[in-house]
Amino acid sequence: MDRKRLPLIRSAATVDVSMTDVTSELPHRRNSLDRRRFLQTSSLAGAAFAFTARPAWSATADSHVEILLDESVGTIAPEIYGQFTEHLGGVIYDGIWVGENSTVPNVGGIRKEIVDRMKQIHVPVVRWPGGCFADSYDWRDGVGPSKERPIRTNFWADDPDAQRLKGNAVQLYETNAFGTDEFMRFCHLSGAEPYLASNLRSLPAMEFSRWVEYCNSPEGSTTLAKHRAANGSPAPYDVKYWGVGNESWGCGGNFEPEEYAEEFRRFTTWVPHYGVPLSFIGSGPNDNNLEWTNSFFEALRRKNYMPRELHGWSVHYYTWNLSMGETTDWVAGKRDALEFDETGWYELFLQGLYMEEIVRAQWGLLGEFDPGRNIKLVVDEYGAWYKPGTQLDPTHMLGQQVTLRDALLTAMTLDIFNRHAEKVGMAACAQLVNCLNALFFSQEDKFITTPVFHVFDMYAAHQGAQSLRVNFSSPQVHYQRKGKATTLAGLLGSASMRGKTVTVTATNSDLKNPKLTEIVLRGSATIASAEASVLTDTDMHAHNTFAQPNAVQLKKLAVEAQGDRLTITLPPASVSRVTIQLA
Ligand code: AHR
Repeated sequence: MDRKRLPLIRSAATVDVSMTDVTSELPHRRNSLDRRRFLQTSSLAGAAFAFTARPAWSATADSHVEILLDESVGTIAPEIYGQFTEHLGGVIYDGIWVGENSTVPNVGGIRKEIVDRMKQIHVPVVRWPGGCFADSYDWRDGVGPSKERPIRTNFWADDPDAQRLKGNAVQLYETNAFGTDEFMRFCHLSGAEPYLASNLRSLPAMEFSRWVEYCNSPEGSTTLAKHRAANGSPAPYDVKYWGVGNESWGCGGNFEPEEYAEEFRRFTTWVPHYGVPLSFIGSGPNDNNLEWTNSFFEALRRKNYMPRELHGWSVHYYTWNLSMGETTDWVAGKRDALEFDETGWYELFLQGLYMEEIVRAQWGLLGEFDPGRNIKLVVDEYGAWYKPGTQLDPTHMLGQQVTLRDALLTAMTLDIFNRHAEKVGMAACAQLVNCLNALFFSQEDKFITTPVFHVFDMYAAHQGAQSLRVNFSSPQVHYQRKGKATTLAGLLGSASMRGKTVTVTATNSDLKNPKLTEIVLRGSATIASAEASVLTDTDMHAHNTFAQPNAVQLKKLAVEAQGDRLTITLPPASVSRVTIQLA
């Protein structure tokens, strides 16, 4: 929050995301596309790979995807498919926690349906308890007998979105019914690793070490290990991922980068390991603030301090400003989640695709301080952020509807992470349920999935696979942006391989034109079988509601495969996954 403090280094609106396309080439002229030009216009221009021969494209397809089976970019960290949960609005209370005495099906107070659905998409890691909330949270408030836990004012109590809430709502006055042990149970049930964000703004470094001790000290060893046992968990939780503050440039303390570096040193020096390979995630920039990153690492370098546990540098980028350059105001720049026209559809993608520039730029800068590349980017907050008004329940602060448009944005973002698998070590979609870019909506006994859930379902196949170099070329999409013709790439996507399975995911953001696409495997391979699924609708506003929970859902898509290639028609406004089995 408080994004006004730090101006963007570069406006997303200036990013050229059209570079992957060659609109002027008519289909019949594709075969004559010379290799040099192809390389220049490819998303991989300048990358170290070689063609053995010019691709022989089909004369009828208008779009082409070339997958280089022998060119791995790196392993796609499963953790890229992580989720974020904060004590904010309806995320924890009603979203995850319904309480042991609830009539809603639950396992020890945790909503059963949410963990079942999380298992389905193999959620690898969950970040908690914030967000901004983390830097106001005392972990000790949330452990021990539930009845004895204190009630505290929630960080979000003064947010304009809190005005809708009445009385002593748990969103205003945190009951601490859901604390560390409940979160660990939630992770255990859903099969995810815990990622705890510590309080650097309002607790001393000692409390960070104590929280690590509570979670990780061996059974029976310390007083806190005994407390943990008394609270139901004799065995340590072995928590590996620890965020060192959150948005320390904003709600996490309004620090200057040098000040944050000092706190970071205090927090991370000599934290006990208890045999767990701790992985610290530093509070990185808002958007693409290179100055924050540079000054922080310069400050560490001056002290010759680079802890071996520093494995992650967080990046937060929300797609919020849809004003098309009219304003940079955090409130005025937002638009509606449901009411948008074609321009609003494309503009979300133009802004969202700035993520790729952030990943490239932050990674480039990190390399100057970490030539051994121990530190990966951790994009632990991303997604669309609209103005209030479409939440399904008044308690859902920062709640908003999730449409097909958001599914495409999420898919494009995940494809960026896949394509940059060597750079992005972890990510977390903000947030899991009843909030921004949610996968789920719940209200008492009602529970539905959103189009974003279906994207995670489709994309789960990439987890842990080898990201492959891939070229997409397709007719561009054009739209009028404040009277100026603007283009977007026709098709965007990524490809990966695990054993003999190749997974290709792609978005066609074009609202009118299907893309007759030829996918060619380069490297000696023959396709044994192929199948595809798609998320699409004729209405770009399509979304699920409690009354119509399956308005947007996955469907099968026809594929024709022969030899080393296949053809498929990717519908307008769609996210698709093609699964190819090699012979
Ligand atoms: O996700 C909502 C908020 O956005 C988080 O609490 C904060 O980290 C960010 O500003």
